[in-house]
Amino acid sequence: MNDASAAVFVVDDDVSVREAVQGLIRSANLRVETFASGRELLDRCRDEVPGCLVLDVNLPGLSGLDLQQELASADVRAPVIFITGRSDIWTSVRAMKSGALDFLTKPLDSDALLSAIRQGIGRSPKLGAARSTAPRTPSEQMVGDSPAFRAVIDRVAMVAPTDSTVLILGETGTGKERVARAIHARSHRSARPMVSVNCAAIQPSLIASELFGHERGAFTGAVRRHLGRFELAEGGTIFLDEIGDLPAETQIALLRVLQEREFERVGGNEPIHADVRVIAATHRDLRSAIAEGSFRADLFYRLNVFPIHVPPLRERSSDIPLLVEHFLRAHTSKLGREVRGPDEKTLEMMRTHSWPGNVRELQNLVERWVVWGSSDVSIQESGFASEGAQAANEDGEQAPDGAVNLRKYIETVERRLIGSAMTAAGGNRSEAARRLGLSRGAFLERLRKYAVKTA
Ligand SMILES: Nc1ncnc2c1ncn2[C@@H]1O[C@H](COP(=O)(O)OP(=O)(O)OP(=O)(O)O)[C@@H](O)[C@H]1O
Ligand SMILES: [Mg+2]
Repeated sequence: MNDASAAVFVVDDDVSVREAVQGLIRSANLRVETFASGRELLDRCRDEVPGCLVLDVNLPGLSGLDLQQELASADVRAPVIFITGRSDIWTSVRAMKSGALDFLTKPLDSDALLSAIRQGIGRSPKLGAARSTAPRTPSEQMVGDSPAFRAVIDRVAMVAPTDSTVLILGETGTGKERVARAIHARSHRSARPMVSVNCAAIQPSLIASELFGHERGAFTGAVRRHLGRFELAEGGTIFLDEIGDLPAETQIALLRVLQEREFERVGGNEPIHADVRVIAATHRDLRSAIAEGSFRADLFYRLNVFPIHVPPLRERSSDIPLLVEHFLRAHTSKLGREVRGPDEKTLEMMRTHSWPGNVRELQNLVERWVVWGSSDVSIQESGFASEGAQAANEDGEQAPDGAVNLRKYIETVERRLIGSAMTAAGGNRSEAARRLGLSRGAFLERLRKYAVKTA
């Protein structure tokens, strides 16, 4: 039995409840120990961290909620289920906000309690893994071995166990979200949710309500209370993606959360405490956004506590073979097909390609190989080659002394980048524009200028 080693610890001052709960847990083939007081439990937890805790809220001396805090400060990170004799709404709100897994009232419903316990054991950090840096699922794995990428991995390991705010910077497709997931997965918050918000994808007028929630009647259409992403991320991590696109009013509200760890729902005036770790990311250059007046400097400094810069793929081309292997494995197992990896010539072309769409572009390329069943076809299809060497030699644009005609050179490179971005974006112009960090208008203008064929 997989979870047989994870014990359930139960604390209740009422012996009849202890016995009933103990019998129930045993009947489910789980190991259980009971305690009459919080002190006894704390002593026991010095030797063994349980897989799940069932705590009575109204204990004499140290209450269940205080006990939970003591456990947290002793770094005992087991999922907690509260049980109580009184269905007191405020206690239950406090309990749920404290990050408890469930809150059940007596007389206890055996099925509900057992299902909560099983869920708790499933979520509990496995022995010894609570503080380890090993990835738990493939989506948290960070593939790469170049010195530049190793530096990213080191910074992730350094900041993950803390509660510090992290700002992830890097071009589109470099893996910023992946880095955010890796940090959350390696943090003590990993059993709680990581809630993502793409600030660029939400209508500016709705962002505040998305982030902070709203009260019923806060605005036309607010027919019921709505919990925002900060409340949904309670005890966990909020990932504010594309933070550079946050509208000015929301920047002020976010600044307040970062300073005071408090916010109010839209249309509400009750301050809500936020126990949430903030990770923000952007492909924009925030310093120039500050200079242009579109991003608040004070917010930048609050976010920039621990910056992590994810380098573009062209600056870590030694990661390419590893990434190719990783994506080949992922896609072939998904599609159940075998595909031969790229030959030396193709790999060399890949090493010198500029990868405007970075890792995502590489991932899409490998996916196409798998779909087409060969790595040869799509290399030509995606039309990339070393922009540097080739561009300079095209159409005799090389000056007699070997220097390069700069305008022509730039145009050639631009044409190639636009073609590659279109390929990587699967022909979607808005997406291609975004990948290159261009407005749609600027992108379309270039697309016409270079008459790039669209799919
Ligand atoms: N080091 C890596 N190892 C494995 N997969 C990676 C790695 N880096 C990125 N990826 C994959 O590449 C794709 C793009 O990564 P991700 O979405 O994290 O990039 P991003 O920087 O957030 O991009 P954008 O700026 O466009 O939002 C994802 O599918 C991700 O899983
Ligand atoms: Mg992203």
